[in-house]
Amino acid sequence: MSFYVTTPIYYVNAAPHLGHAYSTIGADILARHMRQRGEEVFFLTGTDEHGEPVAQAAEREGVTPKELADRNAARFEALMPRINASNDFFIRTSDPRHKRRVQDVMQKVYDNGYAYKGMYEGWYCPRCADFKTEAEVGPDQTCPIHKIALDREQEENWFFQLSAFQDRLEQLFVDNPGFVRPRQRYNEALSFIRGGLQDISLSRSKITWGIDVPWAPGHVFYVWFDALLNYYTALSFAKDGTDLTDAFWPANFHIIGKDILKFHTIYWPATLMAAGIELPQQVFSHGYLLMRDASGSEHKMSKSLGNVLDPFEVMDRFGTDALRYYCFREVSFGQDGGVSTVTFGERYESELANELGNLASRTLAMIGRYRDGVVPAVGVDPELEPDFAGLHADVTGLLDQAEITQALDRIWTRVRRLNRYVEERAPWQLAKDEAKADELDRTLRSLAEGLRVVAVFLHPYMPESTTKLLTALGTPETQLSDFGSHPGGQAVEKLPPLFPKPE
Ligand code: MSP
Repeated sequence: MSFYVTTPIYYVNAAPHLGHAYSTIGADILARHMRQRGEEVFFLTGTDEHGEPVAQAAEREGVTPKELADRNAARFEALMPRINASNDFFIRTSDPRHKRRVQDVMQKVYDNGYAYKGMYEGWYCPRCADFKTEAEVGPDQTCPIHKIALDREQEENWFFQLSAFQDRLEQLFVDNPGFVRPRQRYNEALSFIRGGLQDISLSRSKITWGIDVPWAPGHVFYVWFDALLNYYTALSFAKDGTDLTDAFWPANFHIIGKDILKFHTIYWPATLMAAGIELPQQVFSHGYLLMRDASGSEHKMSKSLGNVLDPFEVMDRFGTDALRYYCFREVSFGQDGGVSTVTFGERYESELANELGNLASRTLAMIGRYRDGVVPAVGVDPELEPDFAGLHADVTGLLDQAEITQALDRIWTRVRRLNRYVEERAPWQLAKDEAKADELDRTLRSLAEGLRVVAVFLHPYMPESTTKLLTALGTPETQLSDFGSHPGGQAVEKLPPLFPKPE
């Protein structure tokens, strides 16, 4: 089976921050997990380079939009290996191949009769690149997300006849309760639709930094049409000489933040319907990572609010895996939640260094000391078997729904179970008594096997440290497998601390 997962494409008006890393790592965990299941995976991320957010930032910095885009796209592209994202392609919407494909698709929308010329008048946020409906306007005509004054726009635009899709969109939601997750976001989008859809601008004539509208000289596409289409256009040119569209479209998952819900759950399916293209299967909207400011109140991290936590700094000190783990452990994927260096430090120490790191070092050290570094080839402890029984089904079932935090929780329950098991069995006591050699064999074997299985399931979350651990255990394979399925008998190696105390 094929599996196609995407992240939002990021505006190049500034450098990447933890919020961007978060969406990307979330999608990466799903991509890696599906590869472990033997699926044919395509994982896409990239940058959104046109439109007002970028044009205005370039103007402020006194460079051309293209110069700013090149500079910052390079920083986003460099972020990907740094956070260990296994993306198969990085799309830039300034790519001429993207442009051509956008023009083709939008021409179909036009040919199918869903575009018309009109006069737009209303409120517009240049940072969101969003024409706000009356209900979306904040106090004193401000943007509720960016807290800046909205512009009153009046311009001649081409319009997309969104209203024509009112019934079809409503039906889509009713027929597919899983189209948008979590449920709260589904409800939000559906009530937006039920509130009555108004036609939206499809082109802009006031700005030039965009993709030309083929049937309307002097107009460029409103950036959201250009941007959303990346998910579709990329497949046609991501791989030289091969069009991957048939192999991977429709996407299984669009992973997005809740700030861009309306675009992905309403505008996007309507655009695809208008062009006669199959719809994606599911949009999963995660929440915001919030940071405390000096006054103690929590804010969404964002470039414009200026309270950015630098993911590079965290990774330099503690490693990429620690950042990946923390973000999805601390904040339930789908909900908002606070992140801080304090809770990061706590989890690093108690969960990563102690619960997982120590368990691994102790287990390997004991196999070295008591069994010459070879895992006894005996059966696993029947007492542990029921505790591992549901793991495989639990994790795959949850990750099928992008429940990344819940799946991690199920895995961590087993890490904790293994820690209790060491204490219960006290191998160092068993080792003192020759008569208990069999019990010691079984205990060490069960610990090695338990560790192997948790490392395999944790692999998508922490690819680096689990690779080290699996190698040290003498079982480098990462495809999903169950407790007891490896026969034992393999030689293990010593392992330096997986999560050392930072300098
Ligand atoms: N370019 C548009 C998206 C187009 S998708 C076709 C855009 N870009 S953005 O650079 O502003 O990035 C938005 C995305 O970054 C959010 O949807 C979210 O996925 C992620 N995040 C940005 N800040 C975030 C937090 N503070 N917390 C979690 N994710 C955040 O909008």
